[in-house]
Amino acid sequence: MNKMLLLSAVVCSALAFGAYKVHAQNKEENKTVENPKILIAYYSYSGNTKEVAEAIQKEIGGDLFEIKTEGSYPEEYRPMTVQAKKEIEEGYRPKLTTQVNNIAQYDTVFIGSPNWWGTITPQVSSFIETYDLNSKNVIPFITHGGGGVQNTVADLTTQCKGCLVKDDAWVGYGSRTFGISGWLKGLGFNK
Ligand SMILES: Cc1cc2nc3c(=O)[nH]c(=O)nc-3n(C[C@H](O)[C@H](O)[C@H](O)COP(=O)(O)O)c2cc1C
Repeated sequence: MNKMLLLSAVVCSALAFGAYKVHAQNKEENKTVENPKILIAYYSYSGNTKEVAEAIQKEIGGDLFEIKTEGSYPEEYRPMTVQAKKEIEEGYRPKLTTQVNNIAQYDTVFIGSPNWWGTITPQVSSFIETYDLNSKNVIPFITHGGGGVQNTVADLTTQCKGCLVKDDAWVGYGSRTFGISGWLKGLGFNK
């Protein structure tokens, strides 16, 4: 009987330790950095994501970086969306024409993308695959036209190898910035 009690105690402590470890590992998924150096990188075709990026910077500071690439789109909306769809399906990665000055200096990188056909844009994918964001805290922000998050954050997370992607992304309709302040506070940022 005593042996049974001892065995249960050992099993219970092992389980408790196991649970603790899981908790500790989860906590490590986003690094806590005092006064992190912040980069706010975004791609914006028609201006909405740019507005959100600027609202984030206004709240917490940091360096703004507009992702620009080679290539262009037809002016008419429908052909533009058709080209974008083809690019996404083919995994097109346009070459960046703007460069981040010393990416290594940043602890936290906000990455903004419009939702295009349910995912992030090829320009944002190029950014993610060009820069070494390994072990950096990455916070996605997405703007959409009514479809919501769809696969945007999941695809960004998959493409951002070794990044510590925050679950709590900003997902907003159009250029809506109402609520940004509370979202950033919830993430632990203060002015
Ligand atoms: C090529 C293309 C595809 C889009 N696909 C979607 C979509 O699948 N779901 C959605 O909600 N909005 C979609 N939209 C709307 C944009 O996500 C929305 O207007 C966004 O805020 C635009 O951001 P921007 O002004 O920074 O470019 C699409 C827009 C374009 C141009």
